[in-house]
Amino acid sequence: MPRLLHIQCSPRKDRSASQQVALGFIDRYLSHHPHCQVSTLDLWDLDLPEFGQHAMDAKYAGLQGLALTPPQQDAWNTLKALAAHLHNADLLVLSVPLWNYSIPYKLKHFIDLVSQKDILFSFTAEHGLQGLLQHKTAVVAYARGLDFSPQSDTPAQRYDFQKPYVEAWLGFVGVKEVHALIVEKTILGNEVDQNARREAVQRARELADHLK
Ligand SMILES: Cc1cc2nc3c(=O)[nH]c(=O)nc-3n(C[C@H](O)[C@H](O)[C@H](O)COP(=O)(O)O)c2cc1C
Repeated sequence: MPRLLHIQCSPRKDRSASQQVALGFIDRYLSHHPHCQVSTLDLWDLDLPEFGQHAMDAKYAGLQGLALTPPQQDAWNTLKALAAHLHNADLLVLSVPLWNYSIPYKLKHFIDLVSQKDILFSFTAEHGLQGLLQHKTAVVAYARGLDFSPQSDTPAQRYDFQKPYVEAWLGFVGVKEVHALIVEKTILGNEVDQNARREAVQRARELADHLK
């Protein structure tokens, strides 16, 4: 039975364009895979821990091959439990708003917590860096307020630090098959927003129809 994890990164909930597109994908995906087990991680409802002194010391102790003290081990176990959500899924669906040309700080916070050696990646002199989220697929719904087409004032090539960052991170932690769904112009008036959402949801459904 496939396991799908939806990581929600917008605090706008029902009004969120990225979430609407992601849910369009998930609804259609479930029609093809009715036994798929779906779980949700809403980063705005989670009480994400600070990456504090004990977690920091645990990280550097691990890098140096030193034993962890009990408080360091507790902090490390918290990070492992968070990362387990990723390990326990076959299909990762992320809904990601664009904030100041990049990702919301809650998603960066989550990434900073879980992206640890021997949790999401390994490192050896022989093999270098290797992501540990193997054999997974990701579908990322990106929402942007403005127009990022090449002829716009904010062309993606120059202003998009959202999609390249998320894709670099997914690649780093081992996710090789990544599909992007983009909804833009969500703050350029109600009609423009609604049209953009409708078209993006349609693309999301088509992706779900074709995804193995
Ligand atoms: C804090 C904040 C920063 C934003 N920064 C940008 C930006 O840099 N460029 C842009 O095109 N839209 C920006 N927006 C607009 C959002 O990208 C847009 O509303 C998008 O639909 C948000 O995704 P969501 O609907 O899934 O929450 C910003 C919105 C917020 C709340």
